[in-house]
Amino acid sequence: MQWVMRFLREWVDHRFPLTKLWNEHLAHYYAPKNFNFWYYFGSLALFVLANQIITGIWLTMNYTPTAEGAFDSVEYIMREVPWGWLLRYLHSTGASFFFIVVYLHMFRGMLYGSYKSPRELVWLLGMLIFLCLMAEAFFGYLLPWGNMSFWGAQVITSLFGAIPYFGEWLIEWIRGDYNVTGVTLNRFFALHVIAMPLVFVGLVVFHILALHEVGSNNPDGIEIKKHKDKRGIPLDGIPFHPYYTVKDLMGLAVFLIIFCAVIFFAPEMGGYFLEHPNFEPADPLKTPPHIAPVWYMTPYYAMLRAIPDKLLGVCTMGASIVVWFFLPWLDRSSVKSIRYRGFFYKGALALFVISFISLGYLGANPPTPLFVLMARVFTVIYFLFFLLMPIYTTLDKVKVVPERVRD
Ligand code: HEM
Repeated sequence: MQWVMRFLREWVDHRFPLTKLWNEHLAHYYAPKNFNFWYYFGSLALFVLANQIITGIWLTMNYTPTAEGAFDSVEYIMREVPWGWLLRYLHSTGASFFFIVVYLHMFRGMLYGSYKSPRELVWLLGMLIFLCLMAEAFFGYLLPWGNMSFWGAQVITSLFGAIPYFGEWLIEWIRGDYNVTGVTLNRFFALHVIAMPLVFVGLVVFHILALHEVGSNNPDGIEIKKHKDKRGIPLDGIPFHPYYTVKDLMGLAVFLIIFCAVIFFAPEMGGYFLEHPNFEPADPLKTPPHIAPVWYMTPYYAMLRAIPDKLLGVCTMGASIVVWFFLPWLDRSSVKSIRYRGFFYKGALALFVISFISLGYLGANPPTPLFVLMARVFTVIYFLFFLLMPIYTTLDKVKVVPERVRD
């Protein structure tokens, strides 16, 4: 048996760099030995991506992308298709978990300065992935053709109308009709199931290739490539496989317990993962009393609503995402990891997290005068975190970073 495997491997290796790729990215990829909890989320994001693609393929087999058939086909999947309910919940819960995992993954980057040189491109590719993820979620949300799907798409596509001169034309071009209709549903379906996933997977490959070119950062923010042994192997590095493949499998097991608990016991998550108005078919004559996007978009939605002027609101919402792209150049600190940073960065990051979560809460609730005022305050804090970063990271009193990884 062994010789058959060896023969097959050699046969393939003569025609395709299988062993070379395996070694470069796993068996001989030396990762810092001090990865901690925060380093689970990259591989978990890969897992959730695979889950979305696989469950998505099977959902597509029974889904009808027309205004007449979409809602009923989702009900059919839930009630009639064998295991259809599980496929749908794996996909809908997977969407929310994708954002949880990616937000934690990004937060890790902020904790340990993973976006700083030489990993700027890893960060920029990550941000493109994030944009893709938001677009993918937006297109997918229209597909069940529930009432919130319809009104959500109505609100977001009409935002383009705020653009002077060609705004109205742009809305029509995006919708493919004067209103959100079956035509819109059809094109969103095409974008959701093929266009975006292709871009998504391509970007993830580039993201990992870029990371493996420069090597991983770590909780100490020390470049392990600076200290190598005679064979050129980093002294503080260990082969990704088997050490981190095994560790990541442990993380995956814990993740699956939580993921399955939600799927089996709270797939709607009290209306946060699957919103209540979406259990009614789309009705252009019946506006839901309170239109709100799914929880992962609510921080940006809160910023949009906080600004009275439509165009300014749209620009603020756009800027709240774009500003992330500049993080590698806004941070002027001489150290990467939060372990060696001073009070200013720690305080600013804490305030930023509080304002981001608060904006998320405010965006999910009706805009009372108090909530709008609070959203304005948190929007200002959100932007100040980025805009003042060159100043407070320069002034911050940092600790001396050790030469070698500590633990
Ligand atoms: C589908 C989405 C994503 C996938 C599958 C993914 C995958 C990965 C993987 C497997 C790693 C290496 C393991 C690790 O360090 O955890 C990684 C590292 C990294 N990712 Fe992502 N990622 C995604 C999205 C993002 C986003 C949205 C950002 C930020 C804008 C980002 C920024 C980074 C950075 C800076 C690193 C290097 C971290 C370090 O070395 O400390 N990623 N990513």
